[in-house]
Amino acid sequence: MNTYIKKLIDDDSDFQEIIRDIISNKTVQKMKNFMQHYDTTCFDHCYVVSYYCYLICKRLNLDYKSAARAGMLHDFFLYDWRKKQPDRKGLHAFTHGKIACENACKLFNLNDKEKDMIIKHMWPVTVALPNSLEGLILTFVDKYCAISESIDILKTDLFSRKSFRHAYLVLSLLNVNI
Ligand SMILES: [Fe+2]
Ligand SMILES: [Fe+2]
Repeated sequence: MNTYIKKLIDDDSDFQEIIRDIISNKTVQKMKNFMQHYDTTCFDHCYVVSYYCYLICKRLNLDYKSAARAGMLHDFFLYDWRKKQPDRKGLHAFTHGKIACENACKLFNLNDKEKDMIIKHMWPVTVALPNSLEGLILTFVDKYCAISESIDILKTDLFSRKSFRHAYLVLSLLNVNI
């Protein structure tokens, strides 16, 4: 995670107070053992998603507490989603919202909005639209974070490929001649 963003989130005492019981929970801490996108752990991904949802919902006078709590738990599925799970039916993209909600409900008292936000956070991949504006915001923030967590690694990967380096060199030369 970007150290500037981490410090910003760690230092926001109002936000920390809202999610304190969640992030200090031993089972939630296990999300640090699973990678979400490239070098970002599931915990860090949820931490940033939760904070952005909190900020946006606070600015819009929405239910920022539910937004922060649901954001922190939206990917609380606790398995390596890249590997096939023998006891799991259905594709990860379609099922993990429900699994995350079930796991969260075993440990925390979630309100109906928080449950709905977690279950439907993969919209529009999953068809059902979230019931709240907070839920809709979570779907967009989640995708934004997923892209920003992946883009730097993808760029590095692309530039490291030999064929791309050659094409880049040729294009650069053409550009110089123009
Ligand atoms: Fe997810
Ligand atoms: Fe996510």
